[in-house]
Amino acid sequence: MNIGVLTGGGDCPGLNAVIRAIVRKAHGTGGHRVLGFYDSWDGILEKRYEELTIAQVRGILPKGGTILGTRRGSPFDFEDGVERTKQTFSDLDLDALVVIGGNGSLTVASMLARDHGLPIIGVPKTIDNDVQGTDSTFGFQTAVQIATDAIDRLHTTAESHDRVMVIEVMGRDAGWIALHAGLAGGATAILVPEVPFDIKQVATIVAKRHDRGRYASLVVVAEGAKPVAGTLDIPAPKLDKYGRELHGSISQVIAPELSRLTGYESRVVQLGHVQRGGTPTAYDRVLSSRFGLAAVDAVYDGSFGDMVVLRCGNIERASMEVTRGKTRTIDLDFFHDVSASFFG
Ligand code: F6P
Repeated sequence: MNIGVLTGGGDCPGLNAVIRAIVRKAHGTGGHRVLGFYDSWDGILEKRYEELTIAQVRGILPKGGTILGTRRGSPFDFEDGVERTKQTFSDLDLDALVVIGGNGSLTVASMLARDHGLPIIGVPKTIDNDVQGTDSTFGFQTAVQIATDAIDRLHTTAESHDRVMVIEVMGRDAGWIALHAGLAGGATAILVPEVPFDIKQVATIVAKRHDRGRYASLVVVAEGAKPVAGTLDIPAPKLDKYGRELHGSISQVIAPELSRLTGYESRVVQLGHVQRGGTPTAYDRVLSSRFGLAAVDAVYDGSFGDMVVLRCGNIERASMEVTRGKTRTIDLDFFHDVSASFFG
């Protein structure tokens, strides 16, 4: 068999572990060829690939990023994109393609599989943890650990100066990283996209904490957090060339407003792409490896149109269609429990 593999969308820790598992299993259980396509769908459209041997994936398990490169964008951005994709499948005798991607790449993969009959299997990745159909994506746990380590460090400097630290984390329209890193790091308040915040309430929480004699507050803000309508002016986000919102300014608005309302000095820390870089945690290496192995089984079974998913600790399959245009958001009951018990 010829099995293609590509990585799409934003990179995340664990991508190389998936690639390694696919290559090891495909070679070890039948001597199949694995073709790694460069730069996501660009590699498919331009037939840029390399045969991945066991030697080539040696040593990549703990490496962050992706040895194949990744890009945003898809064949649907071009009038002849689907035709060119089909051509690559037939020119290279591809029996299957494994697409390792987040919501965008899995939606594209689903459309190519279900609407155009291409033999594609999905593997859900993203630090945002926002893919429908799986209990978790790989990369998320690593991002939460990085953000938690940062929050731990910020506690001591914030305490020394009695400051309010506003820490902005990634996650797009889901508050998974903010909620988990905020909880793990003992945040004073956590602002998530799913629950609009009232800046005055946040200021009250901060002020009460100081009244109780505590120094320093750490407010963790998801990049996609939204104020209650009419309570705070946030500049409209800029768009990238694919029309996606570019986040990264909300903490710059929240911090000075908290200072104004409480009288305490504030500082902004935007963790940014640090959350996506570097080596995956052991948990993510294991989850990525399990996904990679299961993706090859799905290829052998001809389970095209499906992605491998984690459910209650087990690796299962789900249709990639469940990801189309969807975002998996946090559990609101859990968020409210955390806010009632730990904020302040
Ligand atoms: O989807 C992963 C993610 O890191 C988001 O959390 C973030 O909003 C976005 O990608 C950043 O994208 P880029 O790397 O294109 O700036």
